[in-house]
Amino acid sequence: MKSILVYSSKTGNTERLAKAIHSTLPEGTEFKSVDEIDNFDDYETVIVGFHVINGKVDKKAQAVLDQLKGKKVGLFATTGLLFLGGKAITEARDQIEENNELLCAYICPGRIDPAVEGKFKEAFPKYCDIIDDAHIPEDVGAPLDKYLEEAKNLYNQSLK
Ligand SMILES: Cc1cc2nc3c(=O)[nH]c(=O)nc-3n(C[C@H](O)[C@H](O)[C@H](O)COP(=O)(O)O)c2cc1C
Repeated sequence: MKSILVYSSKTGNTERLAKAIHSTLPEGTEFKSVDEIDNFDDYETVIVGFHVINGKVDKKAQAVLDQLKGKKVGLFATTGLLFLGGKAITEARDQIEENNELLCAYICPGRIDPAVEGKFKEAFPKYCDIIDDAHIPEDVGAPLDKYLEEAKNLYNQSLK
């Protein structure tokens, strides 16, 4: 049976994480954005990457999660602030575990789009100040390399 990694990324953070994770998956695992596929009947293993929007799994990735049943599923995500993203991935994990076998779930900080960063600082001044990773400079890739390595290790172990 076939395997696929499918990801939803608006500003590139989740795509970067997706590529890193895909590089460690068994050969032959397909790699697609959510815009390229909407039917997962042929797949035994589906690895789903999402980004957090307004405290929730983004809508396109949520539509993928909603149709998974009887699969082996891995989850990964990027988020502006970890304490907000934590809730989203916990909800996704709980949903997947109802009807599937969960392989693993991983979440890490992604760079916040400068267009909305000001709103974050206003809404969560305390957390923005203490979570440096929420302010990853433009010239440094996000997620940071240390998170890419962490995610790769987790997937390596989980798929053994
Ligand atoms: C409109 C908008 C809403 C967002 N809402 C949240 C949020 O509620 N919680 C959070 O932690 N991050 C939030 N973020 C930050 C994104 O989760 C983060 O930047 C993520 O890495 C984006 O992934 P992408 O680059 O793959 O699109 C938001 C970003 C945007 C642009």
